[in-house]
Amino acid sequence: MQRLLTLAKQALQVRRVMEEVLVTPARLPSAAHQRFSTASAVPLAKTDPWPKDVGILDLEVYFPAQYVDQTDLEKYYHVEAGKFTTGLGQTHMGFCSVKEDINSLCLTVVQKLMERTKLPWDSVGRLEVGTETIIDKSKAVKTVLMELFQDSGNTDIEGIDTTNACYGGTASLFNAANWMESSSWDGRYAMVVCGDIAVYASGNARPTGGAGAVAMLIGPKAPLVLERGLRGTHMENVYDFYKPDGTTEYPIVDGKLSIQCYLRALDRCYAVYRQKIQTQWKQAGIDRPFTLDDLQFMIFHTPFCKLTQKSLARMVFNDFLSASSEIQASCYKGLEAFRGLKLEDTYANKDVEKAFQKASLDTFNKKTKASLYLSTYNGNTYTSSLYGCLASLLSQHSAQELAGSRIGAFSYGSGLAASFFSFRVSQDASPGSPLEKLVSSISDLPKRLASRKRMSPEQFTEIMEQREHFFKKVNYSPPGDTESLFPGTWYLDRVDELHRRKYARCPV
Ligand code: ACO
Repeated sequence: MQRLLTLAKQALQVRRVMEEVLVTPARLPSAAHQRFSTASAVPLAKTDPWPKDVGILDLEVYFPAQYVDQTDLEKYYHVEAGKFTTGLGQTHMGFCSVKEDINSLCLTVVQKLMERTKLPWDSVGRLEVGTETIIDKSKAVKTVLMELFQDSGNTDIEGIDTTNACYGGTASLFNAANWMESSSWDGRYAMVVCGDIAVYASGNARPTGGAGAVAMLIGPKAPLVLERGLRGTHMENVYDFYKPDGTTEYPIVDGKLSIQCYLRALDRCYAVYRQKIQTQWKQAGIDRPFTLDDLQFMIFHTPFCKLTQKSLARMVFNDFLSASSEIQASCYKGLEAFRGLKLEDTYANKDVEKAFQKASLDTFNKKTKASLYLSTYNGNTYTSSLYGCLASLLSQHSAQELAGSRIGAFSYGSGLAASFFSFRVSQDASPGSPLEKLVSSISDLPKRLASRKRMSPEQFTEIMEQREHFFKKVNYSPPGDTESLFPGTWYLDRVDELHRRKYARCPV
């Protein structure tokens, strides 16, 4: 009895503490609030209640300074002209020399974001890394990034690496936002870094490679708000693309299966998302179906651009199948033949694919095409692909065009993990607003891409062979010059006999 009473008292005490923490979030360290002094981030006033409008405050994109042209690759691989450029929708592919690895990519993009925003290094309380470019089965990329924070003395930074193919970036973003909206939050920013070196063994998949990284600053009062309660997720056990062999950088990939899995995951995630938003609407007194019309922009994980165009068409097909026969007749003219089909029977149906691609061309041009800028010119970057699409969308539109819109986002990682979610863009696009600053900070993306060096397919192949040669080697300094890297790029300087990696930075 006595023991029961003690337990009950303890439970009550815990509850009181929890309630206190939950209802008085404004009791955050005041110094942390004062540190919110960056150009683009918005300070959180001490009087603010629990953090509102958590989302992306700022972002930075990194891609390698060299690329190979896909028309050159078509000739080099003796495939029909147009197979990679028109068939896959890719014009250029970025790639890294042996001087770069996943740690250097992430070091570069984090430092660039911190330098541009002029954030104090101790204002970050959580740093999440999403990647599938694994060079160490134990030591996280995040721990290497701690090097950047060393001089500030800030070691109080939660978060480690998250891996599941191309989904790690989204899982990291969700983790960061969840932390900020939880009782664990200490009032500081979160940062999400995602990046990959996407390389395939020579063969059909090789032209769908790429490399790059994106760093995102997460905070309250963001210009791109993660919409609450609106995540549609689908997870499943499949072997479409995986990396069981630690002796090679290359994945085992069943390309056709991966595309089918991608589209199936899109169907499922979109259905769950629609159901959730319709429930929210019903509670607010709105009773109508959600369709693509309710998204002003739509971005996708983009392994190659043609798949993204097909995915948008797939969403229109989903809307069509869920519509009443009256709506089908009035809004989907010419598609009557596809009534009554089941989603699961149509993954290999080329008639459906072509008809809906044709019917959705205008929608694709309006809602999605601009988001493919980086993917077209740089290729797949796995975990950061979706966020590169977001950056591209921002770089191709003015703040006024984006203000008040809803951006749908579909994230896919083979194996598989996938989510459909959305960002609400702030209404304020006035000069100096967080949205206007975010948009203008990314507007140089086309110029930066155009400044890269074109390499021949022979040089590209030689570098791929070099990557194979040095993968898992010890006691070497990667060959090659550093002048070809962009200013301020971190690079791998040495791997010692115990696999310990040392990095150096090109002058800014
Ligand atoms: N002109 C125009 N188009 C052409 C030409 C030409 N001369 N030749 C072929 N094409 C078209 C084809 O018709 C096809 O288009 P369709 O799919 O609309 O019918 C397209 O080019 C591709 O041709 P395929 O022969 O189907 O391609 P291939 O078998 O060589 O491989 C694949 C393509 C499967 C995408 C391969 O590159 C791959 O495995 N990539 C990696 C896997 C991947 O990216 N999966 C996506 C999800 S998982 C992830 O993100 C990693």
